[in-house]
Amino acid sequence: MSDTGSNGRADKADSAQAISGYGSGGVETVISVDDVTRQVKEMAEEVPVSKLEALAGADPYVTIENLHAGYGKMEILHNVNLRVARKQSLCLIGPNGAGKSTVLHAIFGFNNIFSGSIRIGDGADKKDVTKLSPNQKLSQAGIAYILQDKSVFPGMTVEENLWMGGFLKDQVNEAKQAAEMIFDKYPRLAARRRHQAKVLSGGERRLLEISRALVMNPEVLLVDEPSIGLEPRFIDMVFEILHGLQHEDGKTIIMVEQNAKKGLEFADIGYVLVSGEVAIAGSGDELLANPKVGQLFLGG
Ligand SMILES: Nc1ncnc2c1ncn2[C@@H]1O[C@H](COP(=O)(O)OP(=O)(O)O)[C@@H](O)[C@H]1O
Ligand SMILES: [Mg+2]
Repeated sequence: MSDTGSNGRADKADSAQAISGYGSGGVETVISVDDVTRQVKEMAEEVPVSKLEALAGADPYVTIENLHAGYGKMEILHNVNLRVARKQSLCLIGPNGAGKSTVLHAIFGFNNIFSGSIRIGDGADKKDVTKLSPNQKLSQAGIAYILQDKSVFPGMTVEENLWMGGFLKDQVNEAKQAAEMIFDKYPRLAARRRHQAKVLSGGERRLLEISRALVMNPEVLLVDEPSIGLEPRFIDMVFEILHGLQHEDGKTIIMVEQNAKKGLEFADIGYVLVSGEVAIAGSGDELLANPKVGQLFLGG
């Protein structure tokens, strides 16, 4: 690889035990997860809840308060607060193992919540959904979780996969109607409706994963690493689709993105999560302009 220039970080890469890269930087800028965690902790400010409230505005649609959650008896998230307004997007970035996916899991009800609360709704009509099961989240609270790769049924056709997205609906017909609306919205998916999912391109498969979540017409989309495993041109396509869902359809989006640059360019709000705590919060643009965030997550 080419010269490292003057940033002097090649030494760190040499001494790193657990090597993992971030952002678009080359191998030269790779530093270890432990290094990133330590460095973000050093720069972490106390993030007051008032700051999160300022970012989301007066009436947050999703409110997470003092959340302690984890797997089994192990606590992974320590006092996480989060606020996002209806039709806003929020992106979580941070080193591997920071607990980003765990936040989405907690919102959807995939893990154990030890204390704290999750509320959804407008104005005075905020519903406590902390204890709802994933099925209840989807059918009653309008929250959908978009699974990472490998969640489509490869031997089923595109349309059958979409119908599966409506498994919680009372009538099969309702799911089929919803699928037709999705085919109207995404002609490239319609063109593939009778093809088995396994023949789709990576980008089409991601579109199918997103679309399947839309069958239940959710208000809140939880999206874990939409760009993972995709070629660059498909990454742009997926972010365009998410952009449309937010800005045309008015969905509220909470995403995790390891491609921090893409995620922060997309999102209204960014949080840096480290060791199960929110270490930095700002608008997406603020985090993009933050030199430390740039150095650690945006490839320098
Ligand atoms: N299903 C699980 N059971 C037990 N521990 C888990 C599980 N999923 C994740 N963890 C642990 O929780 C921590 C946070 O993981 P995760 O939220 O996946 O991190 P991130 O998405 O930020 O990379 C890690 O220490 C991980 O090993
Ligand atoms: Mg994750």
